[in-house]
Amino acid sequence: CGIVGYIGDKSAQEVIIGGLRKLEYRGYDSAGIAVLNEQGLQMDKAQGRLAVLEDRLESQPLGGFMGIGHTRWATHGKPSDENSHPHLDEKGDFAVVHNGIIENFMPIKEELLKKGYTFTSETDTEVIAHLLADMYDGDIVSTARKAVQRMRGAYALGIMTKHEPDKLVAIRLASPLVVGIGERESFIGSDIPAILEHTRDVYILNEGEMAVLSRDGVELFDVETGKKVERDVFHVEWDLVQAEKGGYDSFMLKEIYEQPQAVRDTMGARIDQEKKRIVLPELKMSDTELAAYDRIYIVACGTSMHAGLVGKDVIEKWTRVPVEVAVASEFRYRDPIYTDNTLMIVISQSGETADTLAALREAKKSNVKVLAITNVVGSSVAREADEVLFTWAGPEVAVASTKAYTSQVVTLYLFALYLAEVKGTLPADEIANVVEHLQAIPGKIASMLEESEASRMRDFAASIKEVGSVFFIGRSLDYAVSLEGSLKLKEISYIHSEAYPAGELKHGTLALIEDNVPVIALATQPDIFEKMVSNIVEVKARGGRILGFATEGDTELAKAVDEVIYMPSTLPMLTPILTVIPLQLLAYYASVARGLDVDKPRNLAKSVTVE
Ligand code: G6P
Repeated sequence: CGIVGYIGDKSAQEVIIGGLRKLEYRGYDSAGIAVLNEQGLQMDKAQGRLAVLEDRLESQPLGGFMGIGHTRWATHGKPSDENSHPHLDEKGDFAVVHNGIIENFMPIKEELLKKGYTFTSETDTEVIAHLLADMYDGDIVSTARKAVQRMRGAYALGIMTKHEPDKLVAIRLASPLVVGIGERESFIGSDIPAILEHTRDVYILNEGEMAVLSRDGVELFDVETGKKVERDVFHVEWDLVQAEKGGYDSFMLKEIYEQPQAVRDTMGARIDQEKKRIVLPELKMSDTELAAYDRIYIVACGTSMHAGLVGKDVIEKWTRVPVEVAVASEFRYRDPIYTDNTLMIVISQSGETADTLAALREAKKSNVKVLAITNVVGSSVAREADEVLFTWAGPEVAVASTKAYTSQVVTLYLFALYLAEVKGTLPADEIANVVEHLQAIPGKIASMLEESEASRMRDFAASIKEVGSVFFIGRSLDYAVSLEGSLKLKEISYIHSEAYPAGELKHGTLALIEDNVPVIALATQPDIFEKMVSNIVEVKARGGRILGFATEGDTELAKAVDEVIYMPSTLPMLTPILTVIPLQLLAYYASVARGLDVDKPRNLAKSVTVE
């Protein structure tokens, strides 16, 4: 979900709707707004995309200079008009928008029901509005504080009341929240882009903090103690157009094409041009400390976890440190085996994924050092980890992650090379060789994005748009990329797809291969190339239609498959960053061919801040 709030001299409706547009990627099954004007608190909300609400507001605008808005991704209660935010109390005196979950809302709701309050929605949020009305002591700040102390869970809130027309309250318990400081105006946003159009000066709220906004400025407090908190203003340097579509049909396509630049930025100042080695000046720990790690867990979700799978192979190969990759939602409830020298790496584009954050906190509780790889400065993951490597990919808006993945993979290469140097597991000339190949990667990504290449994926996508299933096969690093290719395809085209280690196919899934079932076979790894070809032949014998991926110069694969896509040659360890590019394009074009909303696949959200 996403939250926006405004108090100032502009039309609250306009500022809020503008902010919600920027936040739509966080959830979009309904949207709503409440403003305060001469008639009191007025609200409008609607199930569906933000556009539905915008249409309505166009014919019936809500005047007023203070308000809160919300775009929702359902947790408690199905998507519907009633369950949309904001929620008001019975009299319509208090309005609340909320992101996250109130875990103990049932007992509070029962207590309020006993007192005679009636509820119009199934949400946990409505409970907050009634609770505020019930507890109101003439001061919304102290009332909100007291109310919040009764609620357990992970959430962010925006609150206002008609009784105090000069105050907007924002509270951050876990879900992200920033506050913008303007000239005689103040803003609330779930993230910086939501308010960047209006101000570059922000406070990033920490967990357990509340902000009281007025036209004259913003004050921060600790929710528990009520004490005032001092915070430096964070001045945002990014450009708003960076977050816009910039001429492309969708954010996803734009982000796919941004990859040469994104990857270049990731490497940036981390390559010592002269010595062809990696430098990671942002690491606070010493080389000796780093060299001592003898075991690594990589924990993440979704695409970030897939980047971790590539990371595992390269770290193990170059440093001989055993690495285990785990899905965060599983890891957090495991009883992981930590040695005294275990390092945990969490990977998260947004830095706000609830499960990943929980896994990070579990590790910290056990005194395990956590290194975060994230794209968002100021995100929870970035702030709570002991060490951070930013991916510097720029804002990613499309739900399906692309440039974040390639920049995460590159960050993992950089880290693995650095670790190899401090551990002495790779000689300097080998490191230099990898570094040179890495520096050539952005140009090679660009060549995979040329129209001649893209059109082949467009044609192939058109040919599979009606099929029931697609299979991806590969071995070692190719398998890791297959998983990502398969995820991309299914999440935005809704075509069922699965990825398999090629050698495992004959243990079950081969039964699904019949005439013309599309199989995408990645065969870029020389050491297992022949084995891969044998697996491809097994598939061919059952009638599968095979699109193969090979490295430039190879002539063998073409004999075994229906069609081949050639990757520019590079080190085998680096091919994942190249192979994934046509797979992203395939998913993109399959989604377009099926007439779907590429950037906003059904049922999914960009940032999953609830468990
Ligand atoms: C969601 C997104 C995915 C993303 C995953 C992890 O499922 O739709 O694109 O890979 O969350 O997100 P994170 O921000 O932690 O990388």
